[in-house]
Amino acid sequence: MPDILPPACYAHRVAVIGAGKVGSTLAQRLAERGIAHVVLLDVIEGLPQGIALDLMQARGLQAHDRDIIGTNDYKDTANADVVVITAGRPRTPGIDRDELVKTNAEIIVEASKKAIEYSPNAFFIIVTNPLDAMTYLAWETTQLPRDRIVGMAGVLDSARLQAFIAMELGVPFRDVRATVIGNHGKAMVPLPKYCTVNGIPLTDLLDRATIDRLVERTRNGGTEIVNLMKRGGAYFAPASAACNMVEAAIRDRHCWLPGSVYLQGRYGIDDLFLGTLCRLGCRGVEDIMELQLTDSEAEQMQAAATLVRETIARAKQLLNS
Ligand code: 2OP
Repeated sequence: MPDILPPACYAHRVAVIGAGKVGSTLAQRLAERGIAHVVLLDVIEGLPQGIALDLMQARGLQAHDRDIIGTNDYKDTANADVVVITAGRPRTPGIDRDELVKTNAEIIVEASKKAIEYSPNAFFIIVTNPLDAMTYLAWETTQLPRDRIVGMAGVLDSARLQAFIAMELGVPFRDVRATVIGNHGKAMVPLPKYCTVNGIPLTDLLDRATIDRLVERTRNGGTEIVNLMKRGGAYFAPASAACNMVEAAIRDRHCWLPGSVYLQGRYGIDDLFLGTLCRLGCRGVEDIMELQLTDSEAEQMQAAATLVRETIARAKQLLNS
């Protein structure tokens, strides 16, 4: 037996903080795709324990071999390889993601402080909204190197644009590539010129008006679901997006995915978390790509940065009040 087992033999552990619909669906995805053992934590007594037990009772039926543990104690999350923070209040109709800052700023600071205490070497993925600002607060709270923390948003928004394009054209979803950068909110920046269907540029397949309609639907993708569901927002696609990011890191995929990453000058933006393409692997964020933007897209990126800065400032004001 070699002294050090190669990574592939090492059963990774992921701590999911927050056992709401996104967190519990993520726990299910991670276990049932065989990606990692899961420790699901929540502040509500019994909730994560009940969900974990339910998921374990499905383990034989789902034919996987990953453990899922539910807990209210951060000690049980110790030495996680990846920490995903989903804790926080979800949206309801009429509530914009940025308005969640009132409740979620405190939650993200508390959760990241406790999580880093027990898993100082973990890679952090933030899901809590308002995403880009909460990722910034989690980074400041944990003092993590900037390549060890990323926000989940662009993978979700790009998946929505991919879905709308595939449905519009009647093509297999897997043949569509779509890219959305910027912030996870009304100032997101969908990039039609980086969208293709089997390598064919989207602009060769759809007219401008149709593309604009799909882009607008993507921008409102989360809101559309909140308005339909009334008492909460999307969770299947957000959980799948977070699961794909965890898998890229744990399986050392070195793949380029849109994520909210710490910018130091790219797009002329400094000291801010904002969505762009990043390469994820076992060391976390391995590289960041600045895409070539049109003047209008560059302006949208600046507008997104301004919005996120305002939300961060509001969050800090609330935390210090
Ligand atoms: C969404 O866009 C939850 O922010 C997530 O649905």
